[in-house]
Amino acid sequence: MNHSTIDYNTIALEYAQNRRLHPNVFKGILSTSRVKTDDRVLEVGCGTGNYILAFKSTVGCLCWGLDPSTGMVFEAKRRSNNVNFQLGNAETLQFKDNYFDIVYSVDVIHHVNNHFNYFQEARRVLKTGGKFCTVTDSEWIIRHRQPLAAYFPETVETELKRYPRIAQLKEIMKQAGFSKITEKAVEFHYKLEDIRAYQDKAFSALHLISIEAFQSGLDQMKKDLSNGPIPGVSRYLLLWGTK
Ligand SMILES: C[S@@+](CC[C@H](N)C(=O)[O-])C[C@H]1O[C@@H](n2cnc3c(N)ncnc32)[C@H](O)[C@@H]1O
Repeated sequence: MNHSTIDYNTIALEYAQNRRLHPNVFKGILSTSRVKTDDRVLEVGCGTGNYILAFKSTVGCLCWGLDPSTGMVFEAKRRSNNVNFQLGNAETLQFKDNYFDIVYSVDVIHHVNNHFNYFQEARRVLKTGGKFCTVTDSEWIIRHRQPLAAYFPETVETELKRYPRIAQLKEIMKQAGFSKITEKAVEFHYKLEDIRAYQDKAFSALHLISIEAFQSGLDQMKKDLSNGPIPGVSRYLLLWGTK
């Protein structure tokens, strides 16, 4: 069981302003799912809509985005009315059986309390042959986050407590009835030139460490940034299953 102490309602605006889609996560979901124009796609925990809006604009498929936070759904709806954004949570999907071609989530599974219920629900709403994807961080990724783990090392143990292990997720997917369970890592290198996202705590892990640890990491970032951009690498693991 995982319990998040992040209130996404209070950070929805910062999230919308600061968090962008990870290009290689999007490409990875797109290429493995082979989504087509008439496919139905559901993003669980869509937040402010970064990924599902990209599906809509790139493929033009039929899109749904679900999130339990009214603040996040409000921000998502402000961005487009071409996606069916609605309130809801992973464990009880309010959709018909065999409805979607693809169900996916990005950066959400550590917030979900009951993984088995979610995976069962995702499988129920998927058509036979439909694809299920969970984008998350492995233990290795959490330990090597750059710049997050480097500047805010206190985030590592805190994050390891709330993120489920990949082997555990694969086992639960199997129990929920998924087949062809595979994983694929993606990464994206960039140069950090603006620390606003860190300053605004757009990364939920920064809400879970002490004020002193946060301030000390931020001060160091400001200092290093005055000498030039900070190298960053964003990594994710895409965990796939098929109904
Ligand atoms: C880190 S954000 C990711 C948002 C979006 N997927 C993205 O990558 O931009 C995590 C999201 O998970 C949502 N969330 C939390 N608990 C959830 C649950 N039980 N079911 C579905 N979504 C949940 C939060 O409201 C938040 O919008």
